[in-house]
Amino acid sequence: MNTKESESQETNNSGVSRRGFFLKVGVALNALAASLIAVPLIGYVFSSFTRKGPYQSWISLGPVVDFPEKHTRLAKYRNPFTRPWDGATGDIPCWVRRVAGEEFQVFAINCTHLGCPVRWFQDSRLFMCPCHGGVYYEDGSHAAGPPPRGLYQYEYKVENGVLWVRGGQLPTLSEPV
Ligand code: FES
Repeated sequence: MNTKESESQETNNSGVSRRGFFLKVGVALNALAASLIAVPLIGYVFSSFTRKGPYQSWISLGPVVDFPEKHTRLAKYRNPFTRPWDGATGDIPCWVRRVAGEEFQVFAINCTHLGCPVRWFQDSRLFMCPCHGGVYYEDGSHAAGPPPRGLYQYEYKVENGVLWVRGGQLPTLSEPV
């Protein structure tokens, strides 16, 4: 039997050969697999364009009288952009320094070196980082150790005797010093 005869035997009544049929099925399956991989990839690439922002809002830290003058206190606010299942991870700690009257400084708790939580020491009036020995003065400026800059500060405002912090977005090294 020559090649022409075998090809004609593979062809059915509708004129489609078995080889042609499997070729089309193979192409269709490959196209399906490629689109299943491409859809999440394209979604990831374009997600930064569709994200609504900025992710920040004003959150109460409590009455001003809770923060005595010339003292630094640990406070906490609930990130307004968390989901119910975020649990305790949505609670953001910060250091609040009341300089005088309605003048405050609200610091992110994270060290600007690698993000460890800094601690406040009232006696020495210093913030210290337990990870690599980073030290900050009470105004948040860099004193010693590896951190490249002072502590990150949140915007704040005082309204009707209540201290508000502008939170929701974690600071990065691109923040102004
Ligand atoms: S993380 Fe604070 S000094 Fe390294």
